[in-house]
Amino acid sequence: MLWSQEVLEVNPDCKVSVDYVGKAKIKVLLADNFYRHPEQVSQLALNLYYTDTPNLVGSYPGSRAVVTLDTGPLLQKFSELWGEPLRPHFSSYHPVIFSAITNRNYRLTVWQRQPHIDQGVTAMVYLNPEGLCSGGTGLYRHRPTELERVPIGITPELIRLARQHGLNPDRLKTEDGHAEFLNTVIFNPDYAVRENRYINDGNDYWELLYLIEMRPNRLVIFDGRMPHSQHIQPEQFVEYYRINQILYFKGHD
Ligand SMILES: [Fe+2]
Repeated sequence: MLWSQEVLEVNPDCKVSVDYVGKAKIKVLLADNFYRHPEQVSQLALNLYYTDTPNLVGSYPGSRAVVTLDTGPLLQKFSELWGEPLRPHFSSYHPVIFSAITNRNYRLTVWQRQPHIDQGVTAMVYLNPEGLCSGGTGLYRHRPTELERVPIGITPELIRLARQHGLNPDRLKTEDGHAEFLNTVIFNPDYAVRENRYINDGNDYWELLYLIEMRPNRLVIFDGRMPHSQHIQPEQFVEYYRINQILYFKGHD
């Protein structure tokens, strides 16, 4: 079996559902039975070479593999489902990226023991077969600030929060200042789980608002500006990997 454009064909009868999460009713889109040939996608994905080089994985708690196929038709389908054009975040071409996570001998960083945000809109397809799926992806509300979503731009709310925490709001305009704000006010290491595990059902600082359940061949598209995290129990994914395809799109406020 080899890679070809047909491998990424979408099932025309996939089952689409939409949920609205939190007080702000933020859209989460699910499409079950998403790929037409899910076994092929999974099988080919499993045979790739995965790397954990920081340039490719960033702060992701696993490793990644990339395939260069034309994802144009796929992105077209995602845009139709999402209801607005989705453009790749990093460059005009979006490669096929697979992510693999294992709990075997894995030490999570403080950033991986609490939720995080992505650059814009995030899409993911869970690729483990039936029987090897559990947990999923949690969407969280930050209890101390009550934020359910971190805006991309500088909003009056962020300025108010910066002042409240003794930070100069002008610093939000710089990349370093913005990162300092996020890591102090929202993703503060003190808010992370102490033990070596994912945040899962939440803690005193993070409330689990919604669990995107991991199911075979399920696509999810959500606003990556909502704090989110893998929802994985420490005893899961020790004997086999949690595999999914991941795509990052530009977002807007
Ligand atoms: Fe993410």
